[in-house]
Amino acid sequence: MDGNGRWAKQRGRPRTFGHAEGVEALRRTVEAAGDLGIEYLTVFGFSTENWRRPAEEINALFDLLRLYVSRDLDKLAREGVRVRIIGERVGLQSDILRIVEEAEAKTRHNTRFNLTIAFNYGGQDEIARAARRIAEEVAGGRLAPQDITVERFGSFLDTCELPMPDLLIRTSGEARLSNFMLWQAAYAEFVFSDVLWPDFDKDALSASIAEFHRRERRFGGHGAE
Ligand code: IPE
Ligand code: MG
Repeated sequence: MDGNGRWAKQRGRPRTFGHAEGVEALRRTVEAAGDLGIEYLTVFGFSTENWRRPAEEINALFDLLRLYVSRDLDKLAREGVRVRIIGERVGLQSDILRIVEEAEAKTRHNTRFNLTIAFNYGGQDEIARAARRIAEEVAGGRLAPQDITVERFGSFLDTCELPMPDLLIRTSGEARLSNFMLWQAAYAEFVFSDVLWPDFDKDALSASIAEFHRRERRFGGHGAE
């Protein structure tokens, strides 16, 4: 969800104004994704590298997670949305942890739509945490090194309950992965949109999906003859 700061700057407003407007884009996009028949949507809300930002901005981003969940959780739960949060939980403030756990518990039985929020998430951190847990399993004699396959490794990742992403959309004209879903993006189609996140909407999502459908996916095989 990139481009909040630039969106605000264009309007002569503080970056936090852009982040607040970004929450509105998130609400729109969740709604639009459901309408368009998407079953899994994962958004990048706060990265393990975002701690480098000024404390004031970090606090604003955490406040927006609090606000989003407190405002929308009941509605999401009612509408069959299963909410998951991925990322490192160690070190998060206790009230944020409580919010995250409540959101997951309250929507646990929902199946219509899967909304995953990557918060305090970094792909390298996720892989390192998985490796650490696998090492503990091996050291404890519960897992044999030869059984560490791609599938088994994936089951230790935060995304173990999610399918591999088909489409990865990066907004705001940037063309890099920025530590998002490094493992999972192996065969994702990348779409780079110039739209700044606060302007993202159903049209922008539809355009990205249309671009996705123009791609020929080979997964390392050869194309159709
Ligand atoms: C939002 O956009 C990304 C988050 C960390 C929530 P940015 O804050 O990166 O906005 P730009 O890239 O400065 O425009
Ligand atoms: Mg940015």
